[in-house]
Amino acid sequence: QKGGYKHFMLKEIFEQPKVITDCLAGRVDWNRMEVTLPELAALPVPKRLHIVACGTSYHAGMWGKHLLESWARVPVNVEIASEFRYRDIILDPADMVLVISQSGETADTLAALRIAREHGVKVAGLCNVVGSSIAREADAVIYTQAGPEISVASTKAMCSQMVLLTLMALHWGRNTGALSETVRANVLQTLKKLPGQLETVLPAMRDEAQVLARTYSKAKSFFYLGRGHCFPLALEGALKLKEISYIHAEGYASGEMKHGPIALIDPDFPTFALALNDELFPKVKSNIEEVQARRGKIIALTNPGVELKVDHPWSIPDAWGPMAAFLVLPALQLFSYETADYLGKDVDQPRNLAKSVTVE
Ligand code: F6R
Repeated sequence: QKGGYKHFMLKEIFEQPKVITDCLAGRVDWNRMEVTLPELAALPVPKRLHIVACGTSYHAGMWGKHLLESWARVPVNVEIASEFRYRDIILDPADMVLVISQSGETADTLAALRIAREHGVKVAGLCNVVGSSIAREADAVIYTQAGPEISVASTKAMCSQMVLLTLMALHWGRNTGALSETVRANVLQTLKKLPGQLETVLPAMRDEAQVLARTYSKAKSFFYLGRGHCFPLALEGALKLKEISYIHAEGYASGEMKHGPIALIDPDFPTFALALNDELFPKVKSNIEEVQARRGKIIALTNPGVELKVDHPWSIPDAWGPMAAFLVLPALQLFSYETADYLGKDVDQPRNLAKSVTVE
């Protein structure tokens, strides 16, 4: 069942190239370089999109906001379902709520969907489980086609949600006329080669993760830093580390460090920085230097040719714009996986956690 892998989590991380291929199948016409999402055809482009989800699915939503706002110019509000449901929320009939849920059964997310429908707002669901409650109750459902996810820690499901959010941004960007031809071509060309690229790099990524995991497994706490679309990935990296290795980890927007958390930095409190070769790199670099000035150790996920002096630079291949996230995500997942496995934790069944949270 585990296909020769030690744990389901590892198998599911390595399934991501196939997940990307499956999510794109039938949705991208590669000859005409066009995206078709028939699931959304009956719904107009929303005036404002409210993305509501929990945990890892919430992080996918936060990441998707960057693309949807930039490429489709649709304003996006991303909210944790357990907050959304108890807030005096302002919804306009021209808005749309997008609930993201791998299981389609998360109690808070389902409650948010019902609230939105009571307000007369259209609800689209991004779900992995066919026929789940959220899939049944949403006005439109887009299946993420990641296949069953057995490990409690969500990995490939997030990857699939990110592919679909990318396609939604392209689809709406076309409809609103906001999307430039260049961006569309860059995104689609990147997506096309991504499965092959990922397939090639995953084994080496795992080796690197293993070495780093051994070096850092004694840490009691970790910071994860990122900016822009890498901020939600930093949150996700921290969530993965704490849930399976039980090492305390906090994800932070790099620029927020100096507003308090940097006080915690000392030689025993390492930082995992997302320092890709993009337009925010100079800013991230200066945040890293602030941490180093407090003698904090740094692992930096970065790209070839980047000038950065840190304890452990971890170079991953380049990918265009926010599509780089598809290479960052498995690196974060593998680092957590290897740390938890090295520490002898029950990777697939972490303590106190359930795969689907059907209670509030
Ligand atoms: C973390 C994890 C959880 C889920 C969350 C939402 O690895 O798996 O944070 O992402 O419970 O679950 P779904 O997506 O099923 O609504």
